[in-house]
Amino acid sequence: MERVATASHVEGRTFWVTTGTGQRLVVEGRSDEPRPSAGPGPMELMLVSLATCAGSTMRDLLTGMRQPFRRLVVRVWGERAPDPPRVWTKVRLLYQVAGEVVPDRLRRAEHLTDSKYCSASVMFSRVAELETLTDLVHRVPPAVTRELRRQVLRPHQSIAELVDPGEEDPSTVFFAAHRGDEVVGTAAVYREPCPGRGDEARRIRAMATAPEVRGQGVGELLLDACVDEARAQGALLVWCNARLAAVGFYRRYGFRAVSEPFSVEGIGPHVRMARTI
Ligand SMILES: CC(C)(COP(=O)(O)OP(=O)(O)OC[C@H]1O[C@@H](n2cnc3c(N)ncnc32)[C@H](O)[C@@H]1OP(=O)(O)O)[C@@H](O)C(=O)NCCC(=O)NCCS
Repeated sequence: MERVATASHVEGRTFWVTTGTGQRLVVEGRSDEPRPSAGPGPMELMLVSLATCAGSTMRDLLTGMRQPFRRLVVRVWGERAPDPPRVWTKVRLLYQVAGEVVPDRLRRAEHLTDSKYCSASVMFSRVAELETLTDLVHRVPPAVTRELRRQVLRPHQSIAELVDPGEEDPSTVFFAAHRGDEVVGTAAVYREPCPGRGDEARRIRAMATAPEVRGQGVGELLLDACVDEARAQGALLVWCNARLAAVGFYRRYGFRAVSEPFSVEGIGPHVRMARTI
C-alpha cells in the first residue's frame, strides 16, 4: 500500500497534514466555536475531491475529443444523514462548460467520467445517491432563446412582439445555457454604441436565467461569454440597460452605473451600466 497522508494533531480538531506527494494543508473538523476554521473539514474535502477529480477527468476527455471549451466549472451539493454515522447520502454534481462544444460529445464525456474514469465519482455512486447535471453555454441561433426570454423578461408580450430586428444582424451573437436539452439561460451581444461614450462598444441584452437555476453560476457564465465575445470583436467597452433588480449582479462583475435611473415602458425602472474590457 502507498502512504497517502500523515495527519498530526495540532489543537482542538485541527490537523496538520502532509500528503504522500509532499503537499501540506491544514484540516479542521467542525468547530462548535463561532470563529473562522483553520482549513477545510474532512467531510467537506471528500466532496472537494469529487468535484476536482470529476473536473479533471472531464477536462481530459473534452481535450482528447478536441472540444474547445473556454471554461469548466464543477459545482457540488451534498446532504448528510441526520444521525451518526453522518455519511453523505445525496450528492449533486453539476458540470458547467462554456464554449463551442458539441452537445453529444459533452454527454459522452459526462457518461465516461461518471461511469468509468472518475474514481471519486464511481466510489460516491456506490454509497450515495449521485445526481449528475450538465450545463453548456454556447452560441445559438436567436430563435432558440426566445421562449425563455419571453417567460423571464417579457411575459406581457408574444414571441412575435419580442423579436427585435437587430437579432439577425451578422454582428449580433446569441448565447444559450442548455441544461441537458432544456434552455435555462440566455444572453446576447449587440454591436451598439453606448450613449455618451465614444469607445468601440458592445451592448449586452437578453440576459435571463430560469428561476429554478438561479444562484448556480449560469448568469456568470453567460455574462463571461458575452464579455469574451465583445473582446474578440475588438470592443473596449460593454454596457447594458440593467433592471434595478439586476444591478447587484452586474456590479459584482465590474459594471458601474453611467446614467440616472430611467423607466422602460411595460418593464420598469432601469439604469445604464458599463464596464471597460
Ligand atoms: C440577473 C440574473 C441573470 C442572474 O442570473 P443567475 O443565474 O442567478 O446568476 P449567477 O448564479 O451566475 O450569480 C452569480 C453571482 O451573482 C450574484 N447575483 C445574482 N443575481 C444577483 C442580483 N440580482 N443582485 C446581486 N447579486 C446577484 C449571485 O449571488 C452569485 O454570487 P455568488 O457566486 O457569490 O453566489 C437572473 O437573476 C435573472 O434572470 N433575473 C431576472 C431577469 C433579469 O433581471 N435580467 C437582467 C436584465 S437587465
